Amino acid sequence: MIIAVDGPTASGKGTIAKALSVHFGLPHLDTGLLYRAVGRQCFLDDGNPDDGGDALAATSFPDALLDDPELRSEASGGLASRVSIHPSVRQALFDRQRSFALQAGGAVLDGRDIGTVIAPDADVKLFVTASVEARARRRYLEMQAQGRDVSLDDIAADLAARDARDTQRKDAPLVAAANAVVLDTSDLDRDEAVAAAIALVQGR
Ligand code: DC
Repeated sequence: MIIAVDGPTASGKGTIAKALSVHFGLPHLDTGLLYRAVGRQCFLDDGNPDDGGDALAATSFPDALLDDPELRSEASGGLASRVSIHPSVRQALFDRQRSFALQAGGAVLDGRDIGTVIAPDADVKLFVTASVEARARRRYLEMQAQGRDVSLDDIAADLAARDARDTQRKDAPLVAAANAVVLDTSDLDRDEAVAAAIALVQGR
C-alpha cells in the first residue's frame, strides 16, 4: 500500500505521515528533507538557491547531510522552498522518491507533490491542511518551547510567502490531487489529527 500525504508547511502532515507509518508498519520518507538538504548544500557551497545551475549542483549532497539537525531550521525550509522551484532539481530527486514509493510492501511519503507527481498511483492520498493562523500559532509555540525569540507576525508572514512560492510555481505546485481526501487540522490536536488520518486510510 502506498500512502501519499501532501500539504503546506506546518499543517501537521509530517506528524501524520510518521504516525501512519508506525500504525501500518510501512517505511516513511519525508521528501521535504531532500529539498532541505539541497537548499543547505547550496548554501554551504556559497551558491545562489534562485539559480538553477547552483541548485542542481547541490542535488549531489552527501547522504550524511540528511542527519544534520540544521535541516530542520526555518532558514533551511526557506532555502528548500527556493531550490524546489527549479524543474531540474525536482527531476534530479524524482527517481529516489519514486523507487522509495515502489518498494515491495509499500510506503508512506509526505511532501507537496506525492499524490500528483511522485505517486499518482498511490492507494490513499491525504491532503493535510490548516489555516495560516493555526499553522503560525503551532510554529510559534514550537519555537518558543525551543527558547527562541520569535514574533507570531513574522512567522505568519514567512508561512504565507512559502505557501505562495509552493502553490504558484509552474512545476509540480502544491495542490490536492483530484482523488485526495482533504483533512483540515486547524481545530484538531495532534492525537485527534492522527486518529482522523488513520480512520481515513482504513476507510479506503
Ligand atoms: O515539508 P517541508 O517544509 O520540509 O518542505 C520544505 C520545502 O521543500 C517546501 O517549502 C517545498 C519543498 N518541497 C517540494 O517542493 N516538494 C516536496 N515533495 C517536498 C518539499
